[in-house]
Amino acid sequence: MSTPSMTQLSARIGENTAKVNAYLASHDLPGPSFEVDAPQQLLPPGTDAEMVLARQSVIDDCLELRNLLLGPREHIMTTHQAINLVSPKAITAFRLAHAFPVGSETTFAELAAASGLGETHVRKLVRHAVSVHNLFAEPRPGVITHSAASRLLAEDDAVHSWVEYATHELWDAAFHAPDAMRRFPGSGEPNETGFSVANATDKSFFAFMSDHPDRLRRFAAVMRYITQRPELGPELVVGAFPWGELPAGGTVVDVGGSHGLVCIELASKFPTLKFVVQDLDEPVIRDADARKPAEVADRVTFMAHNFFNPQPVHGADVYFVRAVLHNWSDKYAVEVLRNLIPALKPGAAVVVNDVVTPEAGSVPKVAERQFRISDLSQVLLLNAGDRELAGWTSLFGAADPRFKFKGAAPMPGSTRMWMIHYVWEDA
Ligand SMILES: C[S@@+](CC[C@H](N)C(=O)[O-])C[C@H]1O[C@@H](n2cnc3c(N)ncnc32)[C@H](O)[C@@H]1O
Repeated sequence: MSTPSMTQLSARIGENTAKVNAYLASHDLPGPSFEVDAPQQLLPPGTDAEMVLARQSVIDDCLELRNLLLGPREHIMTTHQAINLVSPKAITAFRLAHAFPVGSETTFAELAAASGLGETHVRKLVRHAVSVHNLFAEPRPGVITHSAASRLLAEDDAVHSWVEYATHELWDAAFHAPDAMRRFPGSGEPNETGFSVANATDKSFFAFMSDHPDRLRRFAAVMRYITQRPELGPELVVGAFPWGELPAGGTVVDVGGSHGLVCIELASKFPTLKFVVQDLDEPVIRDADARKPAEVADRVTFMAHNFFNPQPVHGADVYFVRAVLHNWSDKYAVEVLRNLIPALKPGAAVVVNDVVTPEAGSVPKVAERQFRISDLSQVLLLNAGDRELAGWTSLFGAADPRFKFKGAAPMPGSTRMWMIHYVWEDA
């Protein structure tokens, strides 16, 4: 697809910004800002489809316009700046956002004393973060306050965990990925990755994390946070499958279901159904079990289960596998599907809820960018990645021809996550 011209982009940016602005004014909503008291929720809210599109178009078009104006040489020079991750990495590692209360002022010397960092380093890190990331503000030289963004770091543990994860686990893995690719050409093994090289381990990401409870807890918090983001929200799953047509008393097994947020949502909407959420790690399971709301507690059960072992819950109506198989290369994903077989009754549904990548070049570049980032991040951590629809159907075909394709469609409200529906026909 060809890139629009500068004037086309700027006209579109003007039109869509005006739409967003009019929506905010007509709903008595404030304009977006990074001032410390600015609203932290999405403006406009993610519930209005037209506004979601308008806002996203402005964001994407601004980036395209910027790149055009930079031109190829300056674009290359300004884009590849790993240095931009240093300040958020240090700020989260040394908990600078927690070092002074929101609404108060501090100095570089005080931040240095609170964190144990040298004052010179603090000054350089914080000034970089202010200018590049809107993290903190410097209203007068040498005086530091919170911005809306640093306030989020200080007050929202999930956001703090996300930045730590992105600047520690992901960045370290990314940094070492080319080395891993040289050492293990074309590998689909989960322990021959940038992550494994970065951590000098021959264990896979998940096995390594299980041995490092603090890092595992952080990863689980990040997963919990990501699961609640607009495109992935558990509430989208409610309308994406005919759950209401399952028999009363029917069972849904969520394989690799982490904290079970999807099942908790489904349980609150479908009171006759029962849910079993399985995940690898005892700590995640225990934590999730302790958090589940009382209203659904008797119908949502958590169970430690390694999906590389045979499925222990026999005869369920649906085996739901969400955002799991993109973590595994085909060799392992086939194994996960085959391990369901001993438990499947005729007619049981296997529903994969995962990214379906469009064919290269078939969607606007800005949309394609998100797919490519998602795909590559799986390579860094697990030597896996996202699949096109044909990749999903050949995966099921390779697992067993008795998996019969029933249909596949994007989840309403999401452009990236699909529901891929198979039925077990053991005839
Ligand atoms: C990307 S997360 C997706 C979690 C959840 N399905 C969701 O949509 O939020 C992948 C999950 O697979 C789990 N997992 C990884 N290896 C596993 C294994 N061998 N057996 C069971 N769960 C595993 C991880 O602990 C993690 O919770």
